[in-house]
Amino acid sequence: RTGDLIDSHGRIARDLRISLTEKCSLRCTYCMPEQGLPDIDKECLLSTEEVVRVASIAVHHLGIQEIRFTGGEPLMRADLEQIIAGCAGVVPDTPLSITTNGIGLSRRAGGLAAAGLTRVNVSLDTVDRDLFATITRRDRLGDTLAGIRAAVDAGLTPVKVNAVILPELVAGAGDLLRWCIEHGVALRFIESMPLDADHRWSSSTVVDRGALLTSLRKEFRLREVGRISQSDPAEILLVDDGPATVGIISSVSRPFCGDCDRTRITADGMIRSCLFGDHEVSLLHPLRRGLTDSEVAELWRAAMWLKPAGHEISDPRFRRPQRSMGAIGG
Ligand code: GTP
Ligand code: 5AD
Ligand code: SF4
Repeated sequence: RTGDLIDSHGRIARDLRISLTEKCSLRCTYCMPEQGLPDIDKECLLSTEEVVRVASIAVHHLGIQEIRFTGGEPLMRADLEQIIAGCAGVVPDTPLSITTNGIGLSRRAGGLAAAGLTRVNVSLDTVDRDLFATITRRDRLGDTLAGIRAAVDAGLTPVKVNAVILPELVAGAGDLLRWCIEHGVALRFIESMPLDADHRWSSSTVVDRGALLTSLRKEFRLREVGRISQSDPAEILLVDDGPATVGIISSVSRPFCGDCDRTRITADGMIRSCLFGDHEVSLLHPLRRGLTDSEVAELWRAAMWLKPAGHEISDPRFRRPQRSMGAIGG
């Protein structure tokens, strides 16, 4: 049977994010602990074939229209090219993208594009080498920048850059924007959310949209144009009358949960429809129990009903979710 993934608040999921691993080549302080996340047992990880089957069920039975692979860091999967090629084979008309830190992408962008990858988003918070090393706990700015250039050259466009706004990064936000404009990539700033493994986040450390804009307006003329589509997390502004733009994802100060169209699968095969929804349902076990695609789809539809209305980060009763960002994938 086919039928959309509808939740109990009337939202329909069209955008699927599949986390492929919790491993990462960086250790960003707002996401990962210093030592990384504990290894997931290999048997508990979705295999190449299982990821391809999940993609096929999502598109052919559940109305999913776009699939993004996340992590941890999706490039840590040696079989990423096989996953992309497999998915492109079973869902040829569905855009396939990744969210990556760009490390190693300079060597793989061409192969990934050939396998059928459509687009990449790259996380890059600063173009200052020392600040990059402090935030990511690794001195690898050059690798990320090379990865972005390679993605553009391979036609994995539009390439978007995600920058989490930390207080120490505000002064350099203009430099990052200029670098992105020069290299033809679309920058989006993100308000930091309480999803860091170290639990250092507090509302007082959030640089919100308003504070960032005040700072950027010292260097650029910015005109608000709004969201490109209703479910887009980013609100777009035209820079110096265009065509360059900058986006802001204001998850904390202007939550957009009412228009959310996402659902997620974690690397260990759990259905997790909301970043903040700890109530997960296993997809991995039904896949391995010999259920048909229609039966798996039915179970997934039922799980979708559990998606919470939203995150309520600003509510005094807010409780952090159990998983950190590195275990969800954004
Ligand atoms: P596009 O399809 O290019 O728009 O990608 P995307 O923005 O959906 O994906 P990406 O992985 O680049 O996500 C950007 C950031 O938006 C994430 O890192 C999160 O910080 C934030 N974000 C993504 N999805 C959600 C969500 O469902 N809820 C909230 N609150 N924030 C989200
Ligand atoms: N708050 C907001 N965004 C985050 N990201 C990682 N951790 C956080 C956080 N605590 C972003 C990264 C990456 C995306 C997947 O999630 O910048 O681009
Ligand atoms: Fe959607 Fe949950 Fe993100 Fe809100 S916090 S936009 S409901 S995934």
